[in-house]
Amino acid sequence: MNDIARTGALAPEPVTQEKLESFWMPFTSNRQFKSQPRLLARAEGMYYYTPEGRQILDGTAGLWCVNAGHCRKPIVDAIAQAAGSLDFSPTFQMGHPMAFELSSRLVALAGQPFNHVFFCNSGSEAVDSALKIALGYHRVRGEGQRTRFIGRERGYHGVGFGGISVGGMAANRKMFGTMLPGVDHLPQTWNLKETAFSRGQPAWGAHLADELERIIALHDASTIAAVIVEPVAGSAGVLVPPKGYLERLRAITEKHGILLIFDEVITGFGRVGKAFGWQRFGVAPDLYTTAKGINSGTVPMGAVFARSGIYEAFMQGPASAIEFAHGYTYSAHPLACAAALATLDVYAGEGLFERAAELESHWEAALHSLKGVRNVIDVRNIGLMGAIELEPRAGAAGARGFDVHCQAFFEEGLLVRFTGDILAMSPPLIVSRNQIDEIVERLRRVLERVE
Ligand SMILES: Cc1ncc(COP(=O)(O)O)c(C=O)c1O
Repeated sequence: MNDIARTGALAPEPVTQEKLESFWMPFTSNRQFKSQPRLLARAEGMYYYTPEGRQILDGTAGLWCVNAGHCRKPIVDAIAQAAGSLDFSPTFQMGHPMAFELSSRLVALAGQPFNHVFFCNSGSEAVDSALKIALGYHRVRGEGQRTRFIGRERGYHGVGFGGISVGGMAANRKMFGTMLPGVDHLPQTWNLKETAFSRGQPAWGAHLADELERIIALHDASTIAAVIVEPVAGSAGVLVPPKGYLERLRAITEKHGILLIFDEVITGFGRVGKAFGWQRFGVAPDLYTTAKGINSGTVPMGAVFARSGIYEAFMQGPASAIEFAHGYTYSAHPLACAAALATLDVYAGEGLFERAAELESHWEAALHSLKGVRNVIDVRNIGLMGAIELEPRAGAAGARGFDVHCQAFFEEGLLVRFTGDILAMSPPLIVSRNQIDEIVERLRRVLERVE
């Protein structure tokens, strides 16, 4: 990268123990982290740097979001320009040009049948917005009794009450009471015996979509608003949809008048070799959520894409009526819009989605070369996403994954994500073939060392 923005490196104050204590960190083992901090102070292209200046190869695009690579000058400049010219503008009963420019660019990228975008500030908000659009859609059409949602085991849809209700990760749900009522779940699709070491979409598992018919028979289709799934479950450790599975979900939902929502917060913006996962899999949902890669993780932003029929259904009553009583102070924030417009230019100018598609076979071969390394029980991949699943230590699930993550960071200068004993990877789409090999070699060295 020769266009890394140099806006004057910050010389951060040392992070003392007292300062560490004051931050109640999200999704973190706070006590463990504070006894062994893993700090990132600066980033450029494919790398992070620790406060001491140690270089860390970014195998995860931050948190599945920095698809264009870190601190890209056109994006940084666009944010700076927006901050100095329109710091904030309301989008309730008002608007600013960049919001409309961005929405029209996004629907052009999506193509038919999607021609409306609703903005928010995160993946969690995108999920809650999509669930509310689904409920509202049925209600304005006189089917207000359709209030149930069907999610999937091991699904991750962020942390709002809607998202944890349709989500399927016990740890994220168990503290929070009964959540939304009327939610049911499809079975998850991973099976060690049937799908281990699949390359791309597993051949086994399409029949699991038929469970939806069973759930519909139990509740009656007339009570169900929507089914929500990630096309590829990301946070649960890259669970790739079996061949034919998404097609079946689409056919069943369509047959019963149930909306299909894809949560594309991770799969959106090139991660699977097309702008959006639904394009890659050739299955168009009714609504889909995005965030993260929309502006390469630079400014919080999310967006829900809707088919035109859905938007049109809301456009009734007097023209002065607010058709959908929902939105956020920072919906379409000028800095987020400016960042997204510049990011879309980088994606298009550098052909990064196509690049992800071209690199997929190299990525796949590199990851699968870890088959046979000790403790590796599964390797799976699609696009530029991949996961290595490790045999858990007896009586200590997650400990091996955590040790590998720490050793990768401290001893190999590599950032990978761990969820239990699964190591997940999703490098920025600017990654080179050599850097892919480097990610895998560093991981191999750690795996060979960790008991
Ligand atoms: C599929 C999916 N949905 C929703 C979210 C939540 O996004 P956020 O953390 O921006 O709220 C995530 C985050 O990883 C995600 O992967």
